[in-house]
Amino acid sequence: MEKTLSIIKPNAIEDNNIGNIISRFEKEGLRIAAAKFTHLSKEKAEGFYIEHKERPFFGSLVSFMTSGPVMLMVLEGDNAIMKNREIMGATNPEEAAEGTLRKLYAKSLEANAVHGSDSPQSAEREVSYFFDTNEVLGRF
Ligand code: CMP
Repeated sequence: MEKTLSIIKPNAIEDNNIGNIISRFEKEGLRIAAAKFTHLSKEKAEGFYIEHKERPFFGSLVSFMTSGPVMLMVLEGDNAIMKNREIMGATNPEEAAEGTLRKLYAKSLEANAVHGSDSPQSAEREVSYFFDTNEVLGRF
């Protein structure tokens, strides 16, 4: 069983799509192993996206991710990292396949509805960045 971090971004929460997104994960065989509804501080968002620090969109991305609440989740299942990435679709919603979460719920490249870890290394870092061991199913 693999774990991956998923974030429902502020635009999808504003648009009332939390349930639609979670139910899609469950229908596709992923389990919600942890969940937290929170409003990120600037420091927490900057730390999360630290690998993009030098990119021109970094400041705007941090402002967007702190503009409203987010839903942080750990998804668990066989091949969860790749499966979540398939369900989300391409980062840029204009390039996302029909029926993917980003095609359905993104507003723009920045407000692209969901985030998902891109590798086992980033999943490990991202899950432990937001969740304590005793907050994740199977580790209570
Ligand atoms: P996410 O999967 O959360 O990872 C980094 C985020 O930066 C990405 O989704 C987009 O929301 C945002 N972003 C904004 N501009 C770009 C860009 N040019 N390339 C990649 N990501 C971008």
